[in-house]
Amino acid sequence: MALPRSVVLVGMMASGKTTTGEAVARRLGWDFLDSDRQVEERAGRTVEEIWEAEGEAGFRHLEADALADAFESAGERPVVIAAAGGVVLDPRNRALLKEHPPVVWLRARPATLAGRAGTGAGRPLLDGDPAAALARLADERRPFYEEVAGVVVDVDDLRPDQVVDSILEGIGAR
Ligand code: S3P
Repeated sequence: MALPRSVVLVGMMASGKTTTGEAVARRLGWDFLDSDRQVEERAGRTVEEIWEAEGEAGFRHLEADALADAFESAGERPVVIAAAGGVVLDPRNRALLKEHPPVVWLRARPATLAGRAGTGAGRPLLDGDPAAALARLADERRPFYEEVAGVVVDVDDLRPDQVVDSILEGIGAR
C-alpha cells in the first residue's frame, strides 16, 4: 500500500498523541507537528494565556488555522500531526480530517486519562476536577472521534512503544 502524505493522531488530552506522534514520525522519517505547539509558537503565548485573553473561541480559531496549515505543509514533506484534543468539535475541522486519511484515534478510558493528566496543569478545561472533566469531555466527543477516525488504537494497556507499533500497523506501514 502506498503511504499517504500525512498521518493524524486524534484523541483526548493525555491520550499520548504528542509522545507517540513524535515516535511514529521518527520511525517513518517524517516531520512532526503538534497542534498546541504550533499555536503557541505563532501566538508567542501559552495555550493558557491565549485562553485567558481570548477565551475558548479565540483559541479554537487558532487551532483550526494550525490544522489547515499542517495539511498544507504535508504537500512539501510528509508529516505526522498530533491534533489538539478539541479539534474535532468544529464540523469544518472534522470535514478536513476526513479528507486526509489516515486519522488514528488514540482511545483511552477516562480513568486512564485522569491518571496521566494529574492535576491538569496547563490545560484550562481541566481546572477544578480533572477526572470529572475528562469523563464528561470524553463522553461528549466520542461520536466526533468515531466520525473522523478510520483507525482506532486502545491505549489503556499498552506501553508507548506498543502504541507506536499499533499505529504503524493500523496505517499499513509495518
Ligand atoms: C484541549 C486539548 C489540549 C489543548 C487545550 C484544549 C481540548 O491539547 O489544546 O488545553 O479541548 O481537548 P492536547 O490534546 O494536546 O492536550
